[in-house]
Order: sequence, then structure tokens, then C-alpha cells
Amino acid sequence: MNTQNRPYFRSTDYIGSTRYRKLSMASLVIAIDGPAASGKGTLARKIAERLGFAYLDTGAIYRCTAHYLLRELGADADDTAAAIKAAEYVRDHLNAEMLSNPDLRVEDVARATSKVAANEKVREILLNAQREYAKAPPEVNGLPTGGAILDGRDIGTVVCPAADVKLYVTASTEIRAQRRFDELALKGEKVIYDDVLSDMAERDQRDSERSVAPLKPAADAFIIDTSNESPKDVLSRAIDIIRGHLAEQVAKNAP
Ligand code: DC
Repeated sequence: MNTQNRPYFRSTDYIGSTRYRKLSMASLVIAIDGPAASGKGTLARKIAERLGFAYLDTGAIYRCTAHYLLRELGADADDTAAAIKAAEYVRDHLNAEMLSNPDLRVEDVARATSKVAANEKVREILLNAQREYAKAPPEVNGLPTGGAILDGRDIGTVVCPAADVKLYVTASTEIRAQRRFDELALKGEKVIYDDVLSDMAERDQRDSERSVAPLKPAADAFIIDTSNESPKDVLSRAIDIIRGHLAEQVAKNAP
């Protein structure tokens, strides 16, 4: 697979090792869903690093859309026509720089993203790039990879319903708000915990109650609650689940 044909996925964006390829030549898809600040992004990155898989943060794609809408089109997040225009722009111009822009992480972009992501047409426009990534992940450190990890809200339910392993990572709203508060405080932003909490509850509600691709665990997802677990314990649980799946596959395919 030649990453040069896919300008938005540079091999250097992905962390890799060769360990996984020694186990299997098949390309696995791991879907990780969950609400904001649940720890799913950290977990997805660590699994990718451990297994040498390609990793795609699909939330960043929606964030790019909201960012373009606010900053380039100067439109309001409720402007449906502008949201569609922004999604088309992102689909056609997505690149590594866009996905890693720190301005995607600021609060007004986050708030707008949750509104833009509720638009059915926007989701439809952005769906193919995500599926294509899962089907043909880019090389990791210049080498073919054993699989792809995608994280988001609807990966196990809509984007990759046939994913090999589905994880749903969650934590209580209060704990997630505290994590987000600490993160913002560390960046030197003056924030009030209650504001972060109500913002998060509002966004959760919008993500879970929207009619199209709402946030919910797939029926066959493993639920991981990170409220009272260290990132290290969460990682080892996830790796156990993936190993269990691989062992099952090996047993199934045994002569
Ligand atoms: O994971 P995140 O916080 O970066 O996601 C930002 C927003 O995008 C959030 O409101 C949910 C939305 N999103 C989505 O609707 N579907 C995805 N697959 C990923 C993110």
C-alpha cells in the first residue's frame, strides 16, 4: 500500500512496531467507541503502538469540518448548508496537518463539532474515507501493517460493523469532566469545573440522542469502564480481549 496516494495519511503519523505481523498476516480492524474524555483516544494510541497498527482518530475529521466552518466560512454551527460545504472541503483536502492542528481542540470548535456531527449529510460525506482507511490501512513506519484501529462514536455500529474487535470505552460524566478540567487547567486555561461538566453533559446528550449514528455500544462490543482504572490496567484488559479474539480465530481456522 502506497501512502503517497493518500496524502492525508503519512506513515510518520502512526506509531508502530513489527510485533503483530509476526502473529498474523491478516489485516484486523479494531473499533473503539465511547464518549468524550473516556480515555478511548489514549487507549487506541497505545494499542496501535503495541500492535504496530495504523490509527485513525475519526473525531478529528469531524473537528476539521467544524473548524473549517467556523474559521474559514465564518458560519454558525447550526448553518446546515455551510456544514455540508465544510464536510466536502474536508473530504477533498484532508491531510495530516489538518488532523493534528491544535486549534481543533479548543472549546468552541468542540462544541460546534458535536452540532456538525449530528448532520446526516455531513456524516455521509465523511463516511467513505473512514471505511477506506479501515479496509486498506496505511503503512506504519514504512512497513505494511497488521491492521487498523479507528476510534469515534459510531465505528462499531456504522463505519465498521464487521470489525474484528469492538471496544466501548466509558466513564462517569463527573470523572470525564474532571479529566477534561485538569487537561484545560494544565494548558493554563481558566475554567470552572461546573461549566465543563454541564458542557460535557450537553455534548453527550447531543451525541447519544441524535437520530443518525448515535453514540451507543454495538451489541457485540466489550464495555470497558475506565472510571476507576489506571490507563495501564485499561490497556492490559484491552490487549487481553484482542488476544482472546486472535486465539479464537486461530482455533477456528485450525485444521
Ligand atoms: O472524539 P472527539 O471528542 O474528538 O469527537 C468530537 C465530536 O465529533 C464529538 O461531538 C462526537 C463527534 N464524533 C462523531 O459524531 N462520530 C465519530 N465517529 C467521531 C466523533
